[in-house]
Amino acid sequence: MFSPGGLKSLDNAKDYEIMHELTYHQSLQKNLLEYYLPALAPYFPKFLHARSAPKANQYVLDMAAQTELDNHSLMEKLKRKESCLELVQAAAECKDHMAAGIDTTGDGLCFLMWELSQPQNLGFQRRLQEELRAAPPDAPLDSYVYLDSVIKEALRCAPPIPMSLPRYVPTGGRKIDGFFIPEHTIVSCQPYSVHRVNERVFPEPDCFNPDRWLLEEGAAERNRLFFSFATGGRGCTGKNLALVEMKMLLREVYALYWTTVASDMTASMKLDDQIISSRPEGQSCRLVFNEIA
Ligand code: HEM
Repeated sequence: MFSPGGLKSLDNAKDYEIMHELTYHQSLQKNLLEYYLPALAPYFPKFLHARSAPKANQYVLDMAAQTELDNHSLMEKLKRKESCLELVQAAAECKDHMAAGIDTTGDGLCFLMWELSQPQNLGFQRRLQEELRAAPPDAPLDSYVYLDSVIKEALRCAPPIPMSLPRYVPTGGRKIDGFFIPEHTIVSCQPYSVHRVNERVFPEPDCFNPDRWLLEEGAAERNRLFFSFATGGRGCTGKNLALVEMKMLLREVYALYWTTVASDMTASMKLDDQIISSRPEGQSCRLVFNEIA
């Protein structure tokens, strides 16, 4: 986004604080409260206001002020002469991408590694390791068929954005599944139920089973109903980036390690609905990384 700059939150304490400010809190819902009740918002008591993110705000503003940006960076594109955005708007757009891309990808990976580490799922983990270890070191990321199945299955079972994605019905209204819906009605689908409701497409929908994505029969319908990134004009613009990030990290980990659930792992991994996104309820997932002999 800000290339050649960027956050190095694993090694740098200041960068970590920015990530922490944007993620580890419960105030996403409060943003919605302010959005839907703008007239009342100025009178809300302090605890109803969304948490502010001054460090993240300053960070994106500093990045927007940079003059030496790589051509391929999002900020450089937003700042080009032909762009109609002011500097502060370009900074806001990038902050939006940070908020949209950090928790979603991280929580998706967290649920995935937790599932793979369950005793009943170690067979799936073994199959993934076999695929990763058999591939040549320069194999393209998209050539790992089982890795792709594992990621899709994890995002199907625990979509990081599981809830309603509202849309207006366009002018003239539309027939949806045989029912006429008048124009401007708000309709929505939610990944959580789209991934479960049709048991012909997803048999045993609550069961984590990456192998279902390998079946030729029904593949078109399964992929059509894979809704974790939504679809259409307002679908996720970060989908490809998220998938590359997930694939790279999982390839590094599972080519070298077995993961199992730590004996002191007691936190709840229930999907905690934050209205906009979801995350593990206990906000902690302790796994053991065992080197493959
Ligand atoms: C596993 C990871 C991710 C998931 C599951 C996910 C899911 C979604 C979903 C469901 C939407 C649509 C919301 C709606 O229709 O109302 C969305 C929108 C969006 N996502 Fe993602 N996302 C992920 C990662 C990312 C990343 C890494 C970025 C950018 C760095 C990103 C940027 C965006 C943006 C900018 C939008 C708004 C698009 C628009 O309204 O035009 N997402 N995402």
